[in-house]
Amino acid sequence: MLTFSELKEKESLTILAVESSCDETACAVLRDGAILSSVISTQIAIHKEYGGVVPEIASRNHVLNVEPVVREALEKAGVSFKEIDAFAVTYGAGLLGALLVGVSYMKGLAFALDKPLFKINHIRGHIAANYLADPSLKPPYIGLIVSGGHTVVVRVEDYTSFTYLGGTMDDAVGEAFDKVARVLSLPYPGGPEIEKAAKKGSCTVYIPVPKTPSPYDFSFSGIKTSVINYVHTAEQRGENVVKEDVAASFQSAVTEMLVKAAVTAAKEYGLKDIALAGGVGANGFLRSRLAEACEKRGLKAHFPTKETCTDNAAMIAMEAYLQARYGTGDCLADETLDAKASLPLLKK
Ligand code: KG4
Ligand code: ZN
Repeated sequence: MLTFSELKEKESLTILAVESSCDETACAVLRDGAILSSVISTQIAIHKEYGGVVPEIASRNHVLNVEPVVREALEKAGVSFKEIDAFAVTYGAGLLGALLVGVSYMKGLAFALDKPLFKINHIRGHIAANYLADPSLKPPYIGLIVSGGHTVVVRVEDYTSFTYLGGTMDDAVGEAFDKVARVLSLPYPGGPEIEKAAKKGSCTVYIPVPKTPSPYDFSFSGIKTSVINYVHTAEQRGENVVKEDVAASFQSAVTEMLVKAAVTAAKEYGLKDIALAGGVGANGFLRSRLAEACEKRGLKAHFPTKETCTDNAAMIAMEAYLQARYGTGDCLADETLDAKASLPLLKK
């Protein structure tokens, strides 16, 4: 097996990664940070029926999907296992059973083929998705991570280290999108449905934005509750709830909070770049509001493609590539690697 320093010194690096932390089984092959293939098998249609992800069903489907997805990614990339220099896998945070499928499969593969295996924190992967879209992006910059499980503002110091500036004190923003969608009887996953509905609505519903101790902290639970109360009160009064207006008002309130925090952080730390990451980053309204706010202040907003905002394996391979090039080897796994349902936010 290549040692970490041999890996680091290798001129060209081909990495195969697997991601299975929630309801997407994904595999990607990257060569020197460029995508050769990226395959995602999504279980959305299966979980839609239940209004959310059912962990046990997700695990079973990962078991069925992981091997075909890996085969397809190799085929599309036109490479064989022999040409892979290192493997990578998401080991946390996420659904334990779902993670375990990817971790066990990749441990088997890497150690049978005697190749290094990188253990990757899912959230670090989301941030790394930005380098796939824009290889010229260079730290330091402000990272705004908005997913189904996390909402945080970080200062990205260099390619492998971050400083936490603030985050949600209760629900994650994606969770709030999904819960509000449910109250409006929109299907799972709620984020894209809210976005679609909001396009046809206007911001006529008053949504109070809570005050937080720091400009980089958020609270989404109160916003979610005011939407729920608004809908219930209207229903009790026999008034018509215009879903599109509620969706537009909610999306706008949440977006303003996120954009304000990121722009304030960039100003405070004298940084010119803001990079968005995570599933909610696929939201077109948030993307355009962030771009506008940045332009107004002489800042630059960066976005992963919409496909690499939501869960995928290309971002996991990219994070492994950054670890190989700029890291110290602490992301290399041995046979004791285990999946972790929860993981400190920025831990390697
Ligand atoms: O990053 P991700 O794929 O999985 C996690 O790591 O959590 O994020 C999933 C979240 C879900 O809550 C989903 O509703 C939200 O991202 N999402 C969106 C959009 N697309 C996905 N939220 C708002 N607008 C979207 N277009
Ligand atoms: Zn994610």
